[in-house]
Amino acid sequence: MASLVALVSAFLILQILSPVDALSTNYYDHTCPLFEATVTAAVKKAMTNDRTVPAALLRMHFHDCFIRGCDGSVLLNSTGGNTAEKDGPPNISLHAFYVIDQAKKAVEALCPGVVSCADILALAARDAVALSGGPTWNVPKGRLDGRTSKASDTRQLPAPTFNISQLQQSFSQRGLSMEDLVALSGGHTLGFAHCSSFQNRIHNFSPTTDVDPSLSPSFAANLRNVCPLGNTAKNAGSTLDSTTTTFDNVYFKMLLQGQSIFTSDQSLLTNPQTKALVSKYASSQQEFNKAFIQSMIKMSSLTGGQEIRLDCKVVR
Ligand code: HEM
Repeated sequence: MASLVALVSAFLILQILSPVDALSTNYYDHTCPLFEATVTAAVKKAMTNDRTVPAALLRMHFHDCFIRGCDGSVLLNSTGGNTAEKDGPPNISLHAFYVIDQAKKAVEALCPGVVSCADILALAARDAVALSGGPTWNVPKGRLDGRTSKASDTRQLPAPTFNISQLQQSFSQRGLSMEDLVALSGGHTLGFAHCSSFQNRIHNFSPTTDVDPSLSPSFAANLRNVCPLGNTAKNAGSTLDSTTTTFDNVYFKMLLQGQSIFTSDQSLLTNPQTKALVSKYASSQQEFNKAFIQSMIKMSSLTGGQEIRLDCKVVR
């Protein structure tokens, strides 16, 4: 009897100590079993009309998680008294917010007030990768939505001009390792960058050289061609790898050939540990996929919210 009491009280203590926001892969199994299929359908539909949607969703999730945890704060609109993350400088180029809003609407119609916007975004990012030919995985769910979203917080996002120690610091502040940094930088297998994000490498690089010497000369010449000094074309820029809508390891292969877009990408080659990982992923798509899944689950488990929002853009 005494041991039963001890067992029951140990169980109760464990229940109390376990974090309330612990995520689980079967979180909505009973409350909203069609949630995942509904999100996937919304992502699929959007990307048949616009091939840039998957890259946008993956980056949106990353920017959500790095500010106040993955709490859907990036989805909130600015209000009269508050400029939201969405309108912070690094997020001006985020797009395809409508995909999350449409998915949320469809999910609300099925199971009102049950599924968080943060979970919808995490799922949409997974689907974006899988539907672009990348790996798929089970996403732990149960995130809550936050009520705070400040443009000034976006200063905490890593900048494309960062060196390896700045990148390491930015990731480690969020409990993410150098392995996570390299694997997640592989997200640059999808998508596009505007000239302003890499102009530091192709014009006035240093007092002695105009162009970053770590760039392949012909690759740099192409970038300078699309982004001349004083470029005014708003949409000018470059894809992040040569297979921009396919999730593959070409990003890592190009990195080893001096064909990286950002200083932050190039920085991965300046440290022996991260360089070895770049080589490993360049030579094995499988190893990259495995590492990417692991690091995505880690990044997307940074939680921070308090409630389920009904409209992903507005706090009630
Ligand atoms: C390591 C630090 C990182 C830095 C400094 C960085 C920086 C950037 C910048 C400057 C852009 C281009 C913005 C523009 O000019 O429009 C970009 C695009 C992108 N980033 Fe990153 N990023 C980082 C990590 C990540 C991570 C962890 C992911 C996801 C796992 C990611 C996914 C993407 C995607 C998919 C795009 C293309 C977006 C589009 O085409 O709409 N990035 N990144």
